[in-house]
Amino acid sequence: MEDTLQSLKERCTSCQRCALGATRTNIVFGVGSENADLMFVGEAPGEQEDLTGTPFVGRAGQLLDKFLFAVDIPREEVYIANILKCRPPKNRDPLPAEEDLCIEYLREQVRLIRPKMIVCLGRISAMRLIREDFKITKEHGTFFQKGNCLITAVYHPAALLRDPRKKEDMLRDMKRIKEKLDELKGQDAT
Ligand code: URA
Repeated sequence: MEDTLQSLKERCTSCQRCALGATRTNIVFGVGSENADLMFVGEAPGEQEDLTGTPFVGRAGQLLDKFLFAVDIPREEVYIANILKCRPPKNRDPLPAEEDLCIEYLREQVRLIRPKMIVCLGRISAMRLIREDFKITKEHGTFFQKGNCLITAVYHPAALLRDPRKKEDMLRDMKRIKEKLDELKGQDAT
């Protein structure tokens, strides 16, 4: 039987494919509109996300919210998920084997939601979804066409907390994302 987002979430909730299944408090499946035109994909849940089961609710998430607000993209209208659905201990980088085991859930989410645009939040997500050798410093804000979907990457909000000088680039990228999104929606209307 075909998955729905709800049945996929249920499968995910009982997932023990990798060792993170034993250490998580909650899976962090994804939140937002099931009909979202725009999808953000981060790396993996942090502590607050693990505790609440919701992506991007900690400090990095609050900064992401500020950028969404600044470019007039309501958070409820987008869908936000991660490459990994479970928190790696001490927020270490995801292991390639964990990504390999978890990515099917994200692919199924994308198939079900069918966004017009995917924005990778940070290097780890971009290296998985755009190109293995993606260079976030050079290539953030560049758009790539993949099938029916535009895909781009911006700095991870946690990187902006560590280096606030990057915020200027982030704002520029986010404005462009909003413009492109409006263009894509406009094409639909004609
Ligand atoms: N960082 C991520 O990559 N994802 C989250 O959900 C929170 C922080």
